[in-house]
Amino acid sequence: MSATSVIGLQWGDEAKGKIVDLLTEEHDLVVRYQGGNNAGHTVVADGETYKLSLIPSGILHDSVISVIATGVVIHPQALLKEIDGIVARRGAVEGRLLISDRAHVIFPWHMLEEAALEKNRRDEAIGTTKRGIGTCYRDKAGRTHAIRVGDMYRSETFRSRIGEIVEFKNIVLKAINPDVEPLDADAIFEEYSEYARRLKPLVIDTTAYLHHALDEGKRLLFEGAQGSLLDLDHGTYPFVTSSNSSGCGVHSGSGVSERVIGRMLGVAKAYTTRVGGGPFPTELDDEIGQHIRDTGNEYGTVTGRPRRCGWFDGVATRYGARLSGVDGIVIALLDVLSDLDELKICEAYEIDGERTTDFPSHVDALAKVKPIYRTLPGWKTDITGVRKTEDLPAAARGYIDTLAEIIGSPVHIVSVGPDRLQTIFYNK
Ligand code: IMP
Repeated sequence: MSATSVIGLQWGDEAKGKIVDLLTEEHDLVVRYQGGNNAGHTVVADGETYKLSLIPSGILHDSVISVIATGVVIHPQALLKEIDGIVARRGAVEGRLLISDRAHVIFPWHMLEEAALEKNRRDEAIGTTKRGIGTCYRDKAGRTHAIRVGDMYRSETFRSRIGEIVEFKNIVLKAINPDVEPLDADAIFEEYSEYARRLKPLVIDTTAYLHHALDEGKRLLFEGAQGSLLDLDHGTYPFVTSSNSSGCGVHSGSGVSERVIGRMLGVAKAYTTRVGGGPFPTELDDEIGQHIRDTGNEYGTVTGRPRRCGWFDGVATRYGARLSGVDGIVIALLDVLSDLDELKICEAYEIDGERTTDFPSHVDALAKVKPIYRTLPGWKTDITGVRKTEDLPAAARGYIDTLAEIIGSPVHIVSVGPDRLQTIFYNK
């Protein structure tokens, strides 16, 4: 079994990019298979900082092929901007980056529709990234008003499809936002034809490509975007993203059976963060929360929004780990907690007077839970220079071991800073 999968176990932003970057050397291909430019990760390589969104971080390794597979939704402008940034700093991407012809394309109507829907929502806003991700996936599922990457190379049908969709979207957009300017089908066709022309050398049937790569014994690394609790089917619906961002999405998004995955690594922060709306039982709306935000630089890579911060939620993370079927855990950003006198870990929830370790299926129930905490001592010392388990303070090891016990899975890696070197292979 030649594949590894890296999955976020919380509400996204678990520092998966660094872990994927670290594991890339042991692999031949890195595959991104869901989400779009709602995701963002920062990777520090060779002392330089890269902010990537659609392109897998494998692109920072010259010998590795990066694949944007079928389940991703592609905003061509965003992708080309990212490609231009990589080309300027690391050279041509041809032969190193492949894009699925089955992936769906994000158009201007997706963003406009999403903005109006979020604004008009009577309940708490989902707090989306406003990138047109959900509206694109909705059209994908609806089938009648969707365009895939491969459709852009069939110019006759591409033009007529845009015409038909724009006619319909102009009616919908006017109804949900009377101030909106009507879209111009010709202009969109011209603009997207140019994007298609530029992307053409990278576009292939990635599913067939991945199947051949497996036949040849190539080692695949799957890079999940967002986190398990934002999974469309299994997360905190409706405060979720529109794809399967838990381990459940690897198969459907890539076209590669999960049976080839030999190692499923779940990444969790040493605390919890969330961006956007929805319940968050361990949220800290106080100076400790602000301390975590400032120390961990908890501001969105894509939108710049301050992230909501809180104690480690063992119930939620254990649920994420079980959904994804992880073999081992990565604990990221442990160093962010170094200044705190004591630390709390939520080990169970109390709902209507009952103790449970099951994650509620409805957000109304999640909004009502009271976290039951275990309190541990802090280590109060800088750990960013530690490279071996035995050099970690006893309190830090106690904290990590407690997380492993509550999640129910062994810790394989601990990250104590953004650099590749700031990594501890735990108990190795
Ligand atoms: P959407 O994916 O833009 O539709 O946003 C839906 C929800 O997912 C919102 O709460 C976003 O803040 C959240 N979300 C989407 N992408 C990410 C991510 O990469 N990290 C953290 N949260 C995300």
